[in-house]
Amino acid sequence: MRRTDMTSMHSIETSGPAGTHRAGELLAGLVRPGDVIALGGGLGAGKTALVQGLAAGMGVVGHVPSPTFNLLLVHRADVPLYHFDLYRLETASQLVDIDFYETLEAGGVSAIEWADRFPEQLPDDRLDVTIEVTGEESRRLDVEGTGPRSRDLARSWSDAWRDAGGGEGR
Ligand SMILES: Nc1ncnc2c1ncn2[C@@H]1O[C@H](COP(=O)(O)OP(=O)(O)OP(=O)(O)O)[C@@H](O)[C@H]1O
Ligand SMILES: [Mg+2]
Repeated sequence: MRRTDMTSMHSIETSGPAGTHRAGELLAGLVRPGDVIALGGGLGAGKTALVQGLAAGMGVVGHVPSPTFNLLLVHRADVPLYHFDLYRLETASQLVDIDFYETLEAGGVSAIEWADRFPEQLPDDRLDVTIEVTGEESRRLDVEGTGPRSRDLARSWSDAWRDAGGGEGR
């Protein structure tokens, strides 16, 4: 068994926005209703860029804007995409006002930007993706599953990225 099979930590390195978008598209081929993707990383790291790729891969038609001012944008597709951005939320109690908990269980895929602001409120089994800025155009996505389902997802995503060329030229 390879060493990476022993751990739930994976990393995906991209060398430009197109690579991060592609990584999101690959993730779209693997997600199932109910999956939760918790995104962290600083301002401008590439969280929205990743979700735009995810949305495209899930068949969302049209522009996928940043939900910063709306807190939640719902995108229709065969499986709906619930795109949260918790940056402007002040307290965890406001999560109830935006139907956060019900939405996570509503049968779609949820992607949550700034999820790391409210770690206690996240479901136990979620895919944590932290985006590190490693250069002007390069990013490292640190991917970790926190439960059985998300560990599977983390491994398949990392395998899919490797099989797709591991980001060469992306
Ligand atoms: N490898 C890369 N992956 C993703 N974005 C990149 C990359 N290289 C450069 N960029 C640029 O970084 C920016 C990422 O913006 P994006 O809105 O996706 O960040 P964000 O993490 O959602 O920020 P915010 O915290 O404001 O929501 C874009 O301007 C994009 O062009
Ligand atoms: Mg964003």
